[in-house]
Amino acid sequence: MCGIVGVVGTQEAAPRLLEALRRLEYRGYDSAGIATLVDGHIERRRAEGKLNNLATVLDREPLDGTTGIGHTRWATHGAPTERNAHPHGTARVSVVHNGIIENHAELRAELEAGGAVFETETDTETFARLLDRNLAEGMEPEAAFAAALRRVHGAFALAAVFAGHPRKLLAARQGAPLAVGFGEGEMFIGSDALALAPLTRRIAYLNEGDWTVLTDTGAQFFDAADRPAERPVRVTAFSGAVVGKGNYRHFMEKELHEHPIAIGDTLQQYIDAGTRVVGRPPLPFDPATLPRLTLSACGSAFLVAQVARYWMEALARLPTDCDVASELRYRDPPLTPGGAAMLISQSGETADNLAALAMLRAGGQSTVSLVNVPESSMARQSDAALLTVAGPEISVASTKAFTAQLSVMACLAINFARARGTIDEAEEARLTAALLEVPEHAARLMERGGEIESVAAEVAGARDVLYLARGSLFPIAMEGALKLKELSYIHAEGYAAGEMKHGPIALIDPSVPVIALCPSGPLFEKTASNLQEAAARGGRIIAFTDAAGAPALRRFAERVVELPTVDPFVAPILHAIPVQMLAYHVAVLKGTDVDQPRNLAKAVTVE
Ligand code: F6R
Repeated sequence: MCGIVGVVGTQEAAPRLLEALRRLEYRGYDSAGIATLVDGHIERRRAEGKLNNLATVLDREPLDGTTGIGHTRWATHGAPTERNAHPHGTARVSVVHNGIIENHAELRAELEAGGAVFETETDTETFARLLDRNLAEGMEPEAAFAAALRRVHGAFALAAVFAGHPRKLLAARQGAPLAVGFGEGEMFIGSDALALAPLTRRIAYLNEGDWTVLTDTGAQFFDAADRPAERPVRVTAFSGAVVGKGNYRHFMEKELHEHPIAIGDTLQQYIDAGTRVVGRPPLPFDPATLPRLTLSACGSAFLVAQVARYWMEALARLPTDCDVASELRYRDPPLTPGGAAMLISQSGETADNLAALAMLRAGGQSTVSLVNVPESSMARQSDAALLTVAGPEISVASTKAFTAQLSVMACLAINFARARGTIDEAEEARLTAALLEVPEHAARLMERGGEIESVAAEVAGARDVLYLARGSLFPIAMEGALKLKELSYIHAEGYAAGEMKHGPIALIDPSVPVIALCPSGPLFEKTASNLQEAAARGGRIIAFTDAAGAPALRRFAERVVELPTVDPFVAPILHAIPVQMLAYHVAVLKGTDVDQPRNLAKAVTVE
């Protein structure tokens, strides 16, 4: 995965590349590097670890030149060392790369047999050395680049600069996003338009298989068959302003506090303020007659899909499948003719979900993406795009985008149910009213940081943590476990409470906190019984519930956290907030890197 940038400019390139890389650091932060053309020669600076390390190197050894490329890395092939940091290349050419070159081993063997001596273990270097060989044979950069592209397989975005060509940059995309920015007498490329926003807002996107030649006079585009192509220039809505942390310690803390506004702004987009009814969403199918819905997502977004399945099945009586995109894309399920698929993704760039989208489209499904980034690849490649209005999410762990996604799926469930005649007008009004109360309840939860922090103190020392819930709260138990794992590196599992006695109950002892999501409602008694089973075996129960559930749970739970009483329909949205807050506070207590946990990246653009 990784982020790439490039500039053919009129000002010093290095500071601009560094600024653009800061806006791409969400894509990986194992190492970073920049190469520029200085008097026709390629010079580079690289550093292991976060971008600040590269900034320190550049302070010590500044880099001149107005044309250059930059990279922030999430390691795939080769350890995250300075030696493996991009750009890679030779005296003739320098390359940055996002994605994977799948046939790199075979190309490497071929190039080594021809005398090439590799410096790194990266797949990227094979492309650089292919280019170098073509250039050594006398090809011009364009011909060398086009010929090298024909040899590589996989999903990638690439950019290259060439010694002796100080006003030229070549770039290509196949399965990974790439935006071309148009300035005044300057040109830019970047993994996304957000990275380029401080430089320009006039953007063209490369199509699948395209490559481009940037000079200071503009861009020439070529399609996968090397035919000249036109790609429209549009003005993006992205702001060049740097998103700051404000007075918060971490982006995650700030984004947790933005739950109420993200939910509120998103609901406003889908619910008519006057009638307080969910409006007709712009969908490429009729929900009244839809035979089946397939939901595809990864990570936390997959847990949103799981909650949505409970809603779609129970409320709208709509047969709904739900799978992680990395499985769905290869599973070859029988797809129902006339069916629809929804792809849920904050970034809209997740490689597995993009592949699932292509598979579902090819299988004849109407496709709808639900994304937080309107110009993302997923939004552009699906039949219709629905938006969450969560604002930029910088912290790697998804927070406000998660509750915003849940809010949209809840609106759709109500709308579909009404269209299918499975709820009446009164029920619709009741459910919509419950949804509209969520931002206010969420705002009140924000005042409970101190209480959650004290629960965190009881969890921070644990090696394993179990999260239990039933029904539509079960995916939220898994969200709590996922967040705890990724932020604090504590092993955690989210289980359906009724499933505990089929195995995980063996784990229970006083050292394993059992975190229960157990608000009053139809499944309260069942969940409470499961928790008693755990308590009877020495389990330390920490229960999140409401006023009606609290007295019964206090009889055996070590801690009871009382949340606002809400309709069971919206309980998953509200319960997501304290479990995310808990993971945040545990991570702070443990001193981990909250916003950029180890080994992770915000947008997973590799398979
Ligand atoms: C967890 C988290 C990830 C993402 C997943 C999907 O906190 O943030 O699990 O949810 O990588 O990313 P998107 O939503 O961009 O497709």
